[in-house]
Amino acid sequence: MSKLRPLRLGVNIDHVATIRNARGGKHPDPLRAAKIAAAAGADGITAHLREDRRHISDADIDRLMAEIDLPLNLEMAATDEMLAIALRHKPHAACIVPEKREERTTEGGLDAAGQRQHLSPIVRQLSAAGIRVSLFVEPALEQLDAAEALGAPVVELHTGRYCETSGAEQAAELERIRKAAAHADAIGLECHAGHGLTYETVAPIAAIPTIVELNIGHFLIGEAIFVGLAEAIRQMRELMNSARAGNS
Ligand code: PXP
Repeated sequence: MSKLRPLRLGVNIDHVATIRNARGGKHPDPLRAAKIAAAAGADGITAHLREDRRHISDADIDRLMAEIDLPLNLEMAATDEMLAIALRHKPHAACIVPEKREERTTEGGLDAAGQRQHLSPIVRQLSAAGIRVSLFVEPALEQLDAAEALGAPVVELHTGRYCETSGAEQAAELERIRKAAAHADAIGLECHAGHGLTYETVAPIAAIPTIVELNIGHFLIGEAIFVGLAEAIRQMRELMNSARAGNS
């Protein structure tokens, strides 16, 4: 029997900053959340520096890079400004996401197939700086082929639609994710997944053997209000591990 691939958990701390920014002060501090996440068993920290700086700030990225031992996955739009910031900090990974000013959260996947010319120099420069590039895409085979053609070593599959739907629609979306994850592996891409995952939706995704990392934020930060961040992460990990081992 082939050995199960380990499944990493990246904890997205954006919404700690959302709460802090609601009052404009220093509390709650995303860096403190990152330290708690590290102690609770997170494998990485994810933070999205948005163009409008609505949650994570430039100073947060400075401090995360300086003070956190876990790998930082910087989510960024494919802009010159974000490219310069990534090249200056050299985080472990950069996940390129589509970004619209008016959206509440990242709505769809990146059109890697349609934006090849625009993305190509960005992927090249990030990779040349030793940053592991991931493209946040819909679970569509043509997007994975485009990511591979662009030379990105990693794709993150958008699980938003799977998490928001139910019944037959959700089952169909899960099947699309399964097929995409198998295809990513077949063409040599490392496959991650994320967006909207909760205790209820995580198991079927965690059970997909070629997905090796989940990035989860909003639900964990929300649940932390009730049980604390460390406990929320611990429970999520348990569900992930159990599903991975075939127990769900
Ligand atoms: N992965 C990517 C690429 C994202 O943009 C986000 C949201 O910032 C997440 C994962 C985490 O999504 P959520 O906060 O809904 O768990």
